[in-house]
Amino acid sequence: MTSATVALVTGGTSGLGLAVAARLLRDGVTPVILGRSEERGRHALKTLGGPALFVRGDAVGEQDVARALDVATERGHLRAVVNCAGAPHAAKVVGRAGPHSLRDFTDVVTANLVSAFNVVRLAAERMMANPPLEQERGVIVNTASLAAFDGQIGQAAYAASKGGMVSMTLPLARELAASLIRVVTVAPGFFETPAVAAVPEEARRELDRDLLHPRRWGDPAEFADLVAHIIGNPMINGETIRIDGAVRMSPGRRPRSS
Ligand SMILES: NC(=O)c1ccc[n+]([C@@H]2O[C@H](COP(=O)([O-])OP(=O)(O)OC[C@H]3O[C@@H](n4cnc5c(N)ncnc54)[C@H](O)[C@@H]3O)[C@@H](O)[C@H]2O)c1
Repeated sequence: MTSATVALVTGGTSGLGLAVAARLLRDGVTPVILGRSEERGRHALKTLGGPALFVRGDAVGEQDVARALDVATERGHLRAVVNCAGAPHAAKVVGRAGPHSLRDFTDVVTANLVSAFNVVRLAAERMMANPPLEQERGVIVNTASLAAFDGQIGQAAYAASKGGMVSMTLPLARELAASLIRVVTVAPGFFETPAVAAVPEEARRELDRDLLHPRRWGDPAEFADLVAHIIGNPMINGETIRIDGAVRMSPGRRPRSS
């Protein structure tokens, strides 16, 4: 990619997204970070240095994403989009307080799946204006989760949102192929990020039992390495790639009655 190459990274102020932004910078790509917190945005730019840019906004918001895309396309050709915006969630279908909140279910699907689709549709339109470079106009990478495949008890909403990302990968890639745009999804296992730093010690010990090899949590830089490879390798398209050290999550804590 050329020095005029720009990438949009949603959720890029922390965790996996921040690692992706750092890696892209090293590869000569200007990352435009979309995030909801001005303070975290400032902190991310300080950490990254270089020509990185921050746009405050919500990945679910049409105008926010359009603004971030304006900033990106003013800077150069938008050749890559990496969707890292998302949030974990856990609640049983029927818990002590009654049935799962329908509002919560909708919110989780919106935060993870609708946000990614919103960015895909708006970014793809911009990428279509790019002149082809090595027979490609752009690549979109979405971040799902291993919960899309082996979600635990309490992950119905989160697994549904991430499963939706996996399922839309091929139809998106099929449609956007005509515009020379690739779509790939990455499904991470357990990675050390601020989102998981809040996991209680006991829950973390339970998750650790599912580790296979390597018996440790991933470094966000390892996730970023995979994303950088996907961006650079034109043969990877329409696929979901797990990066999880072969973890297969156990069912999780069962309700007492079972
Ligand atoms: N860390 C892991 O082990 C792990 C495992 C599987 C999947 N994931 C997925 O990877 C992605 C990144 O997670 P992370 O662990 O780096 O967490 P993180 O909390 O460090 O990063 C996620 C970022 O996305 C931002 N964000 C959330 N919703 C947003 C929205 N609507 N608009 C803009 N920004 C928004 C958050 O504010 C945060 O900065 C998430 O989609 C998460 O579900 C992470």
